[in-house]
Amino acid sequence: MSDFHPIKFEDNKLILLDQLRLPREEIYTQFDTLEGVHSAIKNMVVRGAPCIGFTAIYGLAIWLENNKNFDLQAFREACDYLVTARPTAVNLKYEVDRVFEMVSNRIESGVNLAKLIKEFGDEQLLKSEKNNRAMAQFAEKELDSTLGKSKYRILTHCNTGYLACGSIGTALGVVQNLFEQGKLENTWVDETRPYLQGSRLTAFELGKMGAPHKIVVEGAASYLMKNGLVDAIFTGADRIVANGDTANKVGTSTLSVLASYYNIPFYIVAPRSSCDLDSKSGDEIEIEMRDQNEILVYKEHRIAPVDSGALNPSFDITDGKLITGIITEKGIAKGDYLHTLPKVAL
Ligand code: MRU
Repeated sequence: MSDFHPIKFEDNKLILLDQLRLPREEIYTQFDTLEGVHSAIKNMVVRGAPCIGFTAIYGLAIWLENNKNFDLQAFREACDYLVTARPTAVNLKYEVDRVFEMVSNRIESGVNLAKLIKEFGDEQLLKSEKNNRAMAQFAEKELDSTLGKSKYRILTHCNTGYLACGSIGTALGVVQNLFEQGKLENTWVDETRPYLQGSRLTAFELGKMGAPHKIVVEGAASYLMKNGLVDAIFTGADRIVANGDTANKVGTSTLSVLASYYNIPFYIVAPRSSCDLDSKSGDEIEIEMRDQNEILVYKEHRIAPVDSGALNPSFDITDGKLITGIITEKGIAKGDYLHTLPKVAL
């Protein structure tokens, strides 16, 4: 699995493992313009909140390389344009803001800014490995201290592994770590309609690591929980706000409601770059609406009546009150998130 790098940057080109073609084909595509990077994010060649953020850093390094005689206003416009690629995952804006600040501070210094930003991207990717390992260990400790079982059955949603996060992943990093510790009985992989991040990507990653897993349709969640087949649920996040409300792939909120009904612990695992404590509640998060054809058409075949339309919100908001714990690389927050979250999110 270590051979797989969803994001690489070589000779001023961004090289992305095309996630649209997984799991059937493992194909890398190169990008050397900001427009190309924008479309790779928008069209989900690369996806997952942390990887979108890393991709944006490299996208801006490409812009700096291609625009040697720029002024700050032109760079601001490039940053603003990139942020429009996808609205919900805060990591995109978080990384773009950081790059803008670095460039503004160094513009007069004579330093090679494209190189500086490229190295910054490399650093963030490298750091994510350490951070994700830390989250996984916090989660393992939490499970051992609250459930105390020798092996766990984990349910997860969407894709939060190395394809989405650039290293072992967030929620899926928890699963990988449990597997490596001999503590994983099974992973229930939500198929994750309509884009199938679960069956196409999460199952692909679990298969590569040889970890036990079974794919289920999201609608099976109640069946699994009612029949005592789930010990805990771990999902990622695209944006976590001050009161703990969390935007994640549509269907996550449904899981949290069911988990509360069946008394099953429900955790969010995400890096601090996914936290947006300036927003007070989930009402402030913009939910990306995607093309209805993701629902109506499958591999160019219309699977719904020609006269039917569809609504395709890509994310939903899980109420902070239904989240047992929010795990970042700094630790786990529980209870009143207004007070506990800043300790792990800042
Ligand atoms: O729309 P996507 O595939 O980019 O979805 C984002 C996600 O990967 C998930 O919502 C995920 O659970 C959080 S990001 C690791």
